[in-house]
Amino acid sequence: MLRTFSFSSVAPMMDWTDNHYRTLACLITRHAWLYTEMVVAETIVHQKDNLDRFLAFSQEQHPIVLQIGGSNLENLAKATELANIYGYDEINLNCGCPSGKVAGHGCFGVQLMLSPKFVGDSMRAIAANSDVPVSVKCRIGVDDHDSYNELCDFIYTVSSRSPTRHFIIHSRKALLNGISPAENRKIPPLKYEYYFALLRDFPELQFTINGGINCINEVDAARRQGAHGVMTGRAAYNSPWSLLGHVDSRVYGELRTGLSRRKILEQYQIYGDSVIGKYGPNKPNIRQVVKPLLNLFHSEPGNGLWKRKADAALHHCATIKSFLEETLQAIPDAVLDSTLPETKTSGGTDIFTDAIFLLPPPYKSREHQVLCA
Ligand SMILES: Cc1cc2nc3c(=O)[nH]c(=O)nc-3n(C[C@H](O)[C@H](O)[C@H](O)COP(=O)(O)O)c2cc1C
Repeated sequence: MLRTFSFSSVAPMMDWTDNHYRTLACLITRHAWLYTEMVVAETIVHQKDNLDRFLAFSQEQHPIVLQIGGSNLENLAKATELANIYGYDEINLNCGCPSGKVAGHGCFGVQLMLSPKFVGDSMRAIAANSDVPVSVKCRIGVDDHDSYNELCDFIYTVSSRSPTRHFIIHSRKALLNGISPAENRKIPPLKYEYYFALLRDFPELQFTINGGINCINEVDAARRQGAHGVMTGRAAYNSPWSLLGHVDSRVYGELRTGLSRRKILEQYQIYGDSVIGKYGPNKPNIRQVVKPLLNLFHSEPGNGLWKRKADAALHHCATIKSFLEETLQAIPDAVLDSTLPETKTSGGTDIFTDAIFLLPPPYKSREHQVLCA
């Protein structure tokens, strides 16, 4: 089967996976696919004279996926058409966000899982306005609609009504009872067994597993268990060096490049100083450009002091160059110049083993009920 997406990807994360973070990420890995933050379809439609601000990215960020959000079919179609010229590699629809603004007032995000036919029709419209493959990112359920069969009905309906062949499964349900989005990424338990059962029951589709995958050994473990793709979110943001740094060698078998964080920062500085103020006064500002760097020395000697110096420097530095000159003395040369240590496939605990023994009974396609409901 034609694989239209990569095994390893970085999740869409509002306010996190912006152009700055993605620039840093692709200095660390050349292969992981990068998802944008969700861009609401109405923003694209109403800002059509200002689209670069929301949609432009540099060529180095390929392969890159645009995630859109919305529940108005015409606007989703129009937004996709407007985004088409930017040359994204895939268009993804957000069917997983539980935030009150999105799933509540907006009636989109995870709320869409309750309207599978609408999602199928939207995906058909999105695909018709795009030159690239389309995908859906969803949860495994919403509130009491959390049975494996309901998830399968959703997948079946969407894939039957549209050319969607790739689903990203955030393997916990969403609770729309007022808990925060952050709690919704922690409280509902992960049920990887639903993900692995989808691989069994929909062999013609491609599924990426997401949720709670915290290190490169867990990415590898998912692959050993047969996952088609693995998406990491918080770990890729909070520990970019130790997670993304291993992707090209461990997942794609590339020779290690001897990359160091000093070299990454030298390149990032050129990028950062070229974009500060690009879209008018203070857009973006130095704080936004520095933000993704703040996790680059996670758990390393000097990290605490570096963060304190960064905090102070952000009050007066106007360029990334001066910011780095003022703060990097806190990080020992040994850390700045170190290359990634070799890691080996772990023979230790595999977080997916239990799931393989807990698979729900096979989906009995209820074609008639699903499509005629
Ligand atoms: C700060 C933040 C913002 C997020 N924004 C989005 C978003 O815009 N679209 C989306 O589909 N998921 C969003 N998510 C959810 C992630 O894509 C991912 O599904 C979730 O964090 C679980 O993966 P993880 O355990 O690897 O972090 C967000 C997560 C975080 C932490």
